[in-house]
Amino acid sequence: MNVLRFSDLCAQGQAKGQKVFIRADLNVPQDDAGAITEDTRIRASVPCIQMALDAGAAVMVTSHLGRPTEGELKAADSLAPVAKRLGELLGREVPLIQDWVDGVQVQPGQVVLLENCRVNQGEKKNDEALSRKMAALCDIYINDAFGTAHRAEATTYGIAQFAPIACAGPLLAAEIDALHQALANPKRPLVAIVAGSKVSTKLTILQSLASKVDQLIVGGGIANTFMLAAGLPIGKSLAEPDLVGDARAVMDAMKARGAEVPIPTDVVTAKEFKADAKAEVKPAADVAPDDLILDIGPDTAARLAAQLKQAGTIVWNGPVGVFEMAPFEHGTRTIAQAIAESAAFSIAGGGDTLAAIAKYGIEKDIGYISTGGGAFLEVLEGKQLPAFEILEKRAGGA
Ligand code: 3PG
Repeated sequence: MNVLRFSDLCAQGQAKGQKVFIRADLNVPQDDAGAITEDTRIRASVPCIQMALDAGAAVMVTSHLGRPTEGELKAADSLAPVAKRLGELLGREVPLIQDWVDGVQVQPGQVVLLENCRVNQGEKKNDEALSRKMAALCDIYINDAFGTAHRAEATTYGIAQFAPIACAGPLLAAEIDALHQALANPKRPLVAIVAGSKVSTKLTILQSLASKVDQLIVGGGIANTFMLAAGLPIGKSLAEPDLVGDARAVMDAMKARGAEVPIPTDVVTAKEFKADAKAEVKPAADVAPDDLILDIGPDTAARLAAQLKQAGTIVWNGPVGVFEMAPFEHGTRTIAQAIAESAAFSIAGGGDTLAAIAKYGIEKDIGYISTGGGAFLEVLEGKQLPAFEILEKRAGGA
């Protein structure tokens, strides 16, 4: 990736005494009382902020939180809980600044958090006047927000056009390096796991991966549509019969390259979608009209696990069964453990995948865990993300 990296600027002493504007992704889940329930993104943003402070910069950090209405700051949209958590992690107070677009007071060695950037009029539409005003606040703009890299908004795109210097923070750089290693230059065999409820939401990802990977493991409702395409019965399981043709095209494209979409040979079914429903393991060919397929069967799980252990690179997005319910978690647990035990470079992303990784305690065994949800999926689709596109342009590489 041909972009300027903030770490290089720091190493060359170019950040000392400079005003830096860091666009982070501090969009974390909160409970109804506003308490942060999961702080991975805040922890992942600390190295960039610390790097800027250590380099002697005056540090402004901002992020969106949720999807607020522009021009209105409701209490629920405030970054106040994030400022508190960030302060704990940095071991210093982090003042939260409101109405900051026209000017910010911050000295070298200080860090301030600028209130939810999506409250500013024009943020979502990447308004040029807003982008220019924000660019005027800083000497160096740093995008460290991978989770928002698929959005062309004023703090992710416009400001990067107009800031004196625009560069990638360490998190953004690490994400793209890991994805590049996994997709552009992979050690083979390259195995992707793409699971989820609907083929329609991931069809472009499946089509893009079909031209790259050696094995494309599908799971969840997506697998059901592929089973239909393979001529198997799926009972009353979630599927999209209209997309059977697309699923078959993906399978044919893979087959033509000597690659495959492994179709389950056995499944776990129940008559109802309930944690205490009676689970039955049966051959895939024996699914009854009133069955719901809720997991892959043990033979299929063992076969996929063996393939994953032989892989050179693994890309994981989505659990293969209803892993939140004990009777239907075996498939996802087996896959997770196989990835953890594999010598392959593995990269995982997406909310459900991260929940499965946490449930099975395999965080340390995954090569790289992405902080991106939608952004991770768009990279898998083969799209160029706007945040990278503009940073490459600024570096003279596009
Ligand atoms: C995310 O949660 O995936 C990112 O923070 C992006 O949020 P958005 O979908 O509201 O742009």
